[in-house]
Amino acid sequence: MTHPGRVFAVVNQKGGVGKTTTAVNLAASLAASERSTLLVDFDPQANATSAYGLSGSRPHVYDALIGERAIKEMTRGTELPHLHLVPSGRDLYGAEIELVSAINRERRLERALSEIRDDYEIVLIDCPPSLGLLTLNALTAADGIIIPLQCEYYALEGLAGLLETVELVRRELNPGLALEGVLLTMADARNNLSRQVEEEVRRHFGPQAYQTVIPRNVRLSEAPSHGKPILLYDARSAGATAYLELATEILNRLPAADSPVSPPAPAFPCEVAAAATPVEADDARETHHPSSDEGDPFGN
Ligand SMILES: Nc1ncnc2c1ncn2[C@@H]1O[C@H](COP(=O)(O)OP(=O)(O)OP(=O)(O)O)[C@@H](O)[C@H]1O
Ligand SMILES: [Mg+2]
Repeated sequence: MTHPGRVFAVVNQKGGVGKTTTAVNLAASLAASERSTLLVDFDPQANATSAYGLSGSRPHVYDALIGERAIKEMTRGTELPHLHLVPSGRDLYGAEIELVSAINRERRLERALSEIRDDYEIVLIDCPPSLGLLTLNALTAADGIIIPLQCEYYALEGLAGLLETVELVRRELNPGLALEGVLLTMADARNNLSRQVEEEVRRHFGPQAYQTVIPRNVRLSEAPSHGKPILLYDARSAGATAYLELATEILNRLPAADSPVSPPAPAFPCEVAAAATPVEADDARETHHPSSDEGDPFGN
């Protein structure tokens, strides 16, 4: 059975939390499950593009964003038959400034994707580490967001800002935007802090936190330099197994293709926003670092 096409943005304005690793390897795992998948690199750093051994030469997503080329023209095939990729490149940095006075500047990606989204079961957008115009475009184009959180002391730092932006987008631009899931990444089962962060995140997000946890796995960090997703680099690694599990979990959560209406977007629980407030920070400090004077882990 096929599922209706869904667009998910992989988003966290914090840098280095595993957005690209997740977008790249989740896309590969979905494609390996024979789901027609499109990965949109929406970060000027173009890490998802190079992770597939592709270059950031024009035309790329920037050309679709400024409306000069159809996104289909720049969609490229990959080694995986069910996976296509829209590349990015450094010129995308300019879009933040060039679009400032453009009409419907937050809807540029949504409009570009509307030409092709029905050709895919799942579209994943790899977002840059900011809450600027590019991320606003991604949130406006998406049905749901996947938030990777690194299992470390400052995991929830900045989350309040992200959730506020998401609420704003829901109110003004995209009422259907759902929190698809929160993903714990770079977890180390032997590390107490990693386990405590997981408990904390599960307490705040409940079932919105994926059961699947991505372990810290050196093969995941090696794969991009070979221009391959983990499945094609080391399919038996713990990282490959984890991203396959995540794909299965996400597919199981999708509404069936023949269901008459989509389920309502889950609301963001108010206690989630509280997760990033100083009040929670005090709790967290006690839990994580009983004698720490390192300051507020969730403060902004
Ligand atoms: N599970 C993991 N195990 C080991 N290394 C990882 C794992 N996930 C990500 N990394 C490494 O951590 C670094 C940051 O990951 P990644 O590029 O996916 O983060 P990001 O959120 O996309 O960063 P940015 O905000 O700069 O776009 C990379 O070097 C990546 O290879
Ligand atoms: Mg990235």
